[in-house]
Amino acid sequence: MWPQLYEWLALFIKWFHVIAGIAWIGASFYFVWLDNNLKTPPNWKKRKGIKGDLWAVHGGGFYEVAKYQVGPEKMPKKLHWFKWEAYSTWISGTLLLFWIYYLRADAYLIDPQIMALGTTQAIALGVGGITLGFALYEGLLRSPIANKPLLLSLSLVIIGALFCYGFTQVFSGRGAFIHMGALIGTIMVANVWIKIIPGQKQMVAQVSAGETVDPAPGLEAKRRSVHNNYLTLPVIFLMISNHYPMIYQHSHSWLILCTLIGLSAWIRHFFNLKHQGIHKPAIIVSGAAGLLLLAVFLSWSQAKSNAQALASASTESSVEGESSMSEQQRQVMSIVQQRCTTCHSRMPTDDTFSAAPGGVNLDTWQDIERWRARIIERSVVTKDMPFLNKTQITESERQSLQQLLAQP
Ligand code: HEC
Repeated sequence: MWPQLYEWLALFIKWFHVIAGIAWIGASFYFVWLDNNLKTPPNWKKRKGIKGDLWAVHGGGFYEVAKYQVGPEKMPKKLHWFKWEAYSTWISGTLLLFWIYYLRADAYLIDPQIMALGTTQAIALGVGGITLGFALYEGLLRSPIANKPLLLSLSLVIIGALFCYGFTQVFSGRGAFIHMGALIGTIMVANVWIKIIPGQKQMVAQVSAGETVDPAPGLEAKRRSVHNNYLTLPVIFLMISNHYPMIYQHSHSWLILCTLIGLSAWIRHFFNLKHQGIHKPAIIVSGAAGLLLLAVFLSWSQAKSNAQALASASTESSVEGESSMSEQQRQVMSIVQQRCTTCHSRMPTDDTFSAAPGGVNLDTWQDIERWRARIIERSVVTKDMPFLNKTQITESERQSLQQLLAQP
């Protein structure tokens, strides 16, 4: 029962996480759009302290939005803050990271071919990596470098690239990508939590007390908002990339990761300029062309990288010794090679899947060990593997897999 329940809970948390994320990023996109579309208001509004207004129609009604230069004369009873969208996305995301990648570290986080980590070690590296990355970002923004935009951007890019590289050197492909996503997401939420919201609180307090508003916290909040804005497209990309093994299983996945983060932020730049009335189609065209070129290059280089990966996995496993394999292991390998490795291999032969789905390679005994629980789950319990039973596994082979794999 436990594996089933585990899966259900994973589904519920993921569902919630996606909804919270949509609410967060949606609200954030909406306010950026709002800010950039405000028009000079009529004089009677200006006299009330309104610096920009806007009319919209949506869902069967008209909306009138007004942005004040400083604040309203009297604080309204109910002021909406938009912070729980960010917090709940982070909380559910963290839960998901633990639920999937840490509770099932042996399958999802650790790839012995990359680094044979123990579970505790891997989790410590994950949590430590995210904490260190966040501390470096926060440290830079509080250092003198923060006032030198070019140097700051350069440092952030270098740190980002180092983390992309570092994560891919210790974790499975999926594990590395999700950690990069979690690091960026953590930075974004922390920006809301420690700078943006406190800045706003101070502003509200000053307006309520009728004091002049100190612009410094507002400016810092704005800067963090701009960072968050550029990080939205990369972070969403990282989250969905986990469904595309041709990216995260690639031997140069860290370079791909950096390129994709860079290109998606570049595309975001186009929209930011566009909202300000500046049209620079060259940005989006070059961004899209870059993505396309990357896809073409990766598709072309995939076969070579697959062959290399298979060769190195086979040499490593033959060091363990084919001859030392037990009869039971041999039987499992034979079923798997007949029914699974057309898709689940470093060099798949299937006509649809050119990279092992889910990042699940089943070429060697070591691979099978790593995925043991998931193999039983998918081919014996839920029986949805082989995919559409394309390789026509028999019922008795499913039973054999269960019996053979259930033994230690
Ligand atoms: C025709 C291609 C194909 C064949 C053959 C195939 N699979 Fe899959 N497998 C997939 C696809 C596609 C996915 C990803 C989608 C999904 O998870 O439902 C997948 C996902 C998986 C996963 C996902 C891991 C996880 O996290 O749940 C496991 C385990 C798995 N397959 C095991 C097997 C086993 C064992 C066999 C052989 C008995 C097999 N597959 C045969 C296509 C295939």
